[in-house]
Amino acid sequence: MPAKVVVGAQWGDEGKAKVVDFLSESADLVVRFQGGANAGHTVVAGGKEFIFHLVPAGVLHPGKVGVIGNGVVVDPEALLEEMDRLEGIGVKVDGRLFVSRDAHLVMPYHKVLDRVMEEHRGKRIGTTGKGIGPCYRDKAGRVGIRVGDLMDPDVFRAKLHAALDVHNRILSSYGEPPLDEGEILSQYRRFAERMASLVADTSLILNRALDEGKRVLFEGAQGTLLDLDHGTYPFVTSSNTTAGGACTGTGVGPTRIDEVVGVAKAYTTRVGEGPLPTEFEGEMEEEMRRRWGEYGATTGRGRRCGWFDAVAVRYAARVNGFTSLALTRLDSLEGMDPVKICVAYEYDGRITEEFPNSAEVLGRCRPVYEELPGWDGPTSSARSWEELPEGARAYVRRIGELVGAEVVLISVGREREQTIVLGEPWR
Ligand code: IMP
Repeated sequence: MPAKVVVGAQWGDEGKAKVVDFLSESADLVVRFQGGANAGHTVVAGGKEFIFHLVPAGVLHPGKVGVIGNGVVVDPEALLEEMDRLEGIGVKVDGRLFVSRDAHLVMPYHKVLDRVMEEHRGKRIGTTGKGIGPCYRDKAGRVGIRVGDLMDPDVFRAKLHAALDVHNRILSSYGEPPLDEGEILSQYRRFAERMASLVADTSLILNRALDEGKRVLFEGAQGTLLDLDHGTYPFVTSSNTTAGGACTGTGVGPTRIDEVVGVAKAYTTRVGEGPLPTEFEGEMEEEMRRRWGEYGATTGRGRRCGWFDAVAVRYAARVNGFTSLALTRLDSLEGMDPVKICVAYEYDGRITEEFPNSAEVLGRCRPVYEELPGWDGPTSSARSWEELPEGARAYVRRIGELVGAEVVLISVGREREQTIVLGEPWR
């Protein structure tokens, strides 16, 4: 019953989709367990770029079964558009994609509220505006509407009526026009017709698959430091992006998970607000953003960039229980000399090697760097450890030591082939 969880070790955009794509080749099922259409997972295969938001990126491999678990918040409009777009480029997922009947629905008022709340919040979070936070808030507040409800017209009508009564009052208190119940009802009725064949008891599907010895890959979205509990609250997303979320978000017990792979970029990026100790200063940030093409796949926003933060990634190894680490975009550091790794923080005149799980404290931490010699040699053409320049190998070795996890996979470019495998993909 091999089950492997892949999660981001930083603030998202670590290149998880490339690692998921690689591991999915030998998986049977690929599962999203949290987040929603705020995610943007990009896979490059055969020179073509494929972007996934809700559909698990692993389904790019023909025949793999995709599952959207109960922990995901599903925007039916975004899901159906994504399925159509994928089909348009030759990736047919009908018949091999299942959506949990227990997943909550993103409703039109969630998207309006996401924007309005962000405008009125004292401190901006920089949300993607996809309605994620308000939808999870309704879930916790026990007024959410689930995918299963959508399949029963009477239940859906009653729940929508009650929810809209509350939400229209909230919207009007912010000076926003009320939303029309009839319009939402007919729009969601159309979604229900198209989604009916996807809806399933996905916990049952997954547990049966594991009983049969199938390989299940859990595809995390966002990253550890955006986790609602373990991230830099309040500058986080509204779900548990860490490995534990794979269990609560799918109905698979923790005893069934064998491995947790952390994915870290060879440097650091963050999109949206919140502290980022190793952020480049001045013109360097803009220059590196441009050179590295660090722009969001979902919103197109420029990402903030900085040096690798080993304090943060070691913390991620702890809260997720990493069994291994995948390091992406190693090629991007080629030509930089020296390369820096943050090994500790200075806070109020003291040195600490532990990540403070508080945005206020982290905002006052100054990075303590270790410098390593850079390298010039060809990184993106290397296909084995031996082919990597010595400087790049020393950098990877040092990251493994500092994080306390074995690096088993290195990505040196966007294409599938630009991957160096150091360990067994499935133990
Ligand atoms: P929300 O998830 O849209 O509520 O956004 C909350 C925070 O998480 C913001 O800082 C977003 O920029 C960030 N965020 C959400 N999804 C992603 C992602 O897929 N990659 C990177 N950051 C994300």
